[in-house]
Amino acid sequence: MRKAYIVTVALFALAFSLASASDPAPLQDFCVALKDYSDSKSAVFVNGKFCKDPKLVKAEDFFFEGLNNAGNTDNKVGSNVTTVNVDTLPGLNTLGISLARIDFAPYGENPPHTHPLGTEILVVVEGTLFVGFVTSNTENRLFTKTLNKGDVFVFPVGLIHFQLNVGKTKAIAISGLSSQNAGVITIADAVFGSNPPINPDVLTKAFQLDKNVVEELQKEFGDHNY
Ligand SMILES: *[C@@H]1O[C@H](CO)[C@@H](O)[C@H](O)[C@H]1NC(C)=O
Repeated sequence: MRKAYIVTVALFALAFSLASASDPAPLQDFCVALKDYSDSKSAVFVNGKFCKDPKLVKAEDFFFEGLNNAGNTDNKVGSNVTTVNVDTLPGLNTLGISLARIDFAPYGENPPHTHPLGTEILVVVEGTLFVGFVTSNTENRLFTKTLNKGDVFVFPVGLIHFQLNVGKTKAIAISGLSSQNAGVITIADAVFGSNPPINPDVLTKAFQLDKNVVEELQKEFGDHNY
């Protein structure tokens, strides 16, 4: 009897821990992130960031301006992500949501990357994008789609995905993310541009490449100035 009870409780605990794999739900109306931690004596620590004293919270804490401005795409990949997350909009703290604007030069790309903490829903507001994501190692299945203005696509949490502008003109997309700060791991930068560099022998074996090619890639990505 008692054993069955413990097993039931354990199963429930497991189910609930799986259900809260994304940002936890807030326990109060808001918890505006404190930017200045020297002011943290009057703060409450919840999860992630300190909350600003609610009496001191202003409309500005829930506000961000400038998403009408294009990011500068004059870089190696020809894209630029402007992120509106808890770091730039402190009122997002604990709310499990954020936003990004992605600008693409003609034929520019947002290279393969993952957001470890959030699912992304993207809408094309200008141009044409070829997008895709790859499922985990059980199949490594690739899903792709060509998106035009007004088209929407979802990139499930954690999966490697990309967006390529296949048009002759610039493109713009807006993304919603199911996290206050979904995180970004750009695959090429993380693997070939880590600091300090991963031992080339590790990457030579992993990618089945010539060591010279690995060292070339490490030179290319090492300085992060793409
Ligand atoms: C993105 O655009 C902003 C605003 O123009 C610029 O400050 C930033 O350096 C750009 N980032 C990249 C990676 O090009």
